[in-house]
Amino acid sequence: MNSFPADFLWGSATSSYQIEGATEVDGRGPSIWDTFARGEGNVIGGHTGDPACDHYHRYREDVALLAELGLPAYRFSIAWPRVMPDGRRVEPRGLDFYDRLVDELVAHGITPIPTLYHWDLPQALQDAGGWVNRDVPSWFADYALVVGDRLGDRVRDWITINEPLCSAFLGYGTGVHAPGLRDARQAVIAGHHHLLGHGLAATALRAHARPDTKVAVALNFAPPLTDSDDAEHREAARRFDAVHNRFFLDPVLGRGYPPDLRADLAHLGALESAIRDGDEEMIGRPLDWIGVNYYAPSRVIPTPDPLQESNCGLPGLRGVDVLPARGPLTTMDWEQDPVAFADLLLWLGEHCAPVPLIVTENGSSFEDTVDADGRVRDTDRTHYLAEHLHAVHAAIAGGADVRGYLAWSLLDNFEWSFGYTRRFGLVHVDFDTQRRRIKDSGRFYAEVVAANAVPDRR
Ligand code: FCB
Repeated sequence: MNSFPADFLWGSATSSYQIEGATEVDGRGPSIWDTFARGEGNVIGGHTGDPACDHYHRYREDVALLAELGLPAYRFSIAWPRVMPDGRRVEPRGLDFYDRLVDELVAHGITPIPTLYHWDLPQALQDAGGWVNRDVPSWFADYALVVGDRLGDRVRDWITINEPLCSAFLGYGTGVHAPGLRDARQAVIAGHHHLLGHGLAATALRAHARPDTKVAVALNFAPPLTDSDDAEHREAARRFDAVHNRFFLDPVLGRGYPPDLRADLAHLGALESAIRDGDEEMIGRPLDWIGVNYYAPSRVIPTPDPLQESNCGLPGLRGVDVLPARGPLTTMDWEQDPVAFADLLLWLGEHCAPVPLIVTENGSSFEDTVDADGRVRDTDRTHYLAEHLHAVHAAIAGGADVRGYLAWSLLDNFEWSFGYTRRFGLVHVDFDTQRRRIKDSGRFYAEVVAANAVPDRR
């Protein structure tokens, strides 16, 4: 058995738009994902966030599942448009929902870890320019305060923003996520404003909440892999790494934007136009931990022409392309690579020290079938989970200060542009009947958590 430190934090994660459904209930305003999902061709099958897992009405059942699995912590997100339908005016019924959810968690002894922003911006704020508008970060901090005032007596650990990279670059750059815009300059400006929003919200929460408040941000990382170690490939990997792994990390660690990244993006002139005096200081205020979201590495290659635009993540980045992933793959066509995960955690452990790490997302999508006996024998997912937990264990043994692991996801849910066609849950959801069934991977995870150890490979 590979045992984890005694106080290691175990849990699982979800997000509001992906599970709640009930998008028109109790005064909730529309979010950019409601609008985007209704747009022709944006989401597979025309799926939307309704009904999702109908968690808004079934949260008690879902908290009972967490308790049945014996998970000590639960990461969920708060829908800004539920709490503030137009982004500014408070809707008490929306706030009441999260109050009930947190009460239910606390009653079961489960630590609530809310994320304030997991991509569901109020549509009204998008109509005012969204994250490209420099007022949005301050409005985000106002919203953080409203939520903090209501839940702060029971919530100690907060995550400001989930994956600002995806929200900014996929939302405003490649257009595959809401709001579906395609403009490299705007994507970079939106990225800066997400960071500013993080800094302002973190500062606001700390100033008004209980003294032991802990604030983090959840960033996604994709380690670049190359087939060659020559100078061109190393340079391509560096370019990819700067945008995908350091754009958001170094500023929140108080180091400002990496100089090589600024040089790579200088031709856009975007950061230069967006950054104002004091921004980097505000973004870099002390953090209690860094949330690490990891799914897969990326295979990268230099472009034949160094000025050629990249096919990955951020249009406007030059000189590096991403190759198709290599097997074994998940149904997202993501490569399964636990070694890259261990290496990433070791690198982050050094790079972020003394700030500790918590894995805030890691998981896998596979085709699941419910057998005649009602069981979901998801051996692929169980294998992915076990291998990635071994990687976390190895990274800790190697000196990385990793304090917890939150599996993505508690429930099968609305997987953004893939709709309901990709399943990541430890718990299977039948979207016609809303019936939940704990998968074999969920049972396996419950055993790991109970033992605080992952069994040796057989
Ligand atoms: C991450 C998102 C999360 C989920 C997983 C699969 O990028 O944060 O909501 O969709 O990917």
